[in-house]
Amino acid sequence: MRTLPLTCALMLAGACTDPPDRHPFVAAADSKQLMLSVLEPAAEVYWDAVGFIWDMEGTYEIEPRTAEEWEAVENAAWVLAESGNLLLLRERVQGDHWVAMSRSMIDVGRRAVEAAQARDPGRVFEAGGDVYLVCTGCHAVYATQTLRPNYDTIPDSIPDTP
Ligand code: HEC
Repeated sequence: MRTLPLTCALMLAGACTDPPDRHPFVAAADSKQLMLSVLEPAAEVYWDAVGFIWDMEGTYEIEPRTAEEWEAVENAAWVLAESGNLLLLRERVQGDHWVAMSRSMIDVGRRAVEAAQARDPGRVFEAGGDVYLVCTGCHAVYATQTLRPNYDTIPDSIPDTP
C-alpha cells in the first residue's frame, strides 16, 4: 500500500498522543453546584412532565401537549445524559462506583431522550424512574444525607422531648 490514511500518518508523526491532555477540561462548578444548577433542574423538568392528579372531580393525566412542551422534555433529557460526562471529569470522580453511576446516567439519559422523541408519556414515566434510581444509586454511597426527605430543613440534632 502506497499511501497511509491521514489519521495513521498523524499518529506516526506523534500528533495523536494523549489527546485528553491537549484539551484539559476545567470544572466550573463544585459537585454540589453541579447538582443544584444542572442535574436537579433538568431532572425536575423531566419528572414533572408526565403524571396523574387526583382530586374530588376525578383523575387528570399530565403530559406534554405541544411541540414546545415535548421539546423542553427532550432537552432536559439531553442535559441529564450529558451530565454523566460532566460527572466523569477527573477532579469530580470519587471512586469506581462513581464512574459506574456516571456512565449509567449517560445510558438512562439516552433512554429518556428516546422516550421524549417517541412522544410516549408511558416511556417518559418509566425513564424518569430509571433516572431517579441512578441519582439515588450514587447518593447512597457519596451523599447519604440527600436520601433523607427534606434533609436540608432537618436540624443536625433533634432535641429530646421534655
Ligand atoms: C455520580 C454521583 C452522583 C449522581 C449520579 C448524582 N448525584 Fe446528586 N450528589 C452527588 C454528591 C457527591 C452530592 C453531595 C455534594 C456536596 O454536598 O458536596 C450530591 C448532592 C445532590 C443534591 C443536594 C445538593 C445540596 O443542596 O447539598 C441534589 C439536590 C442532587 N444531588 C440531585 C441529584 C439528581 C436529581 C441526580 C440525578 C438526576 C443526581 N443528583 C445524581 C453525587 C451524585
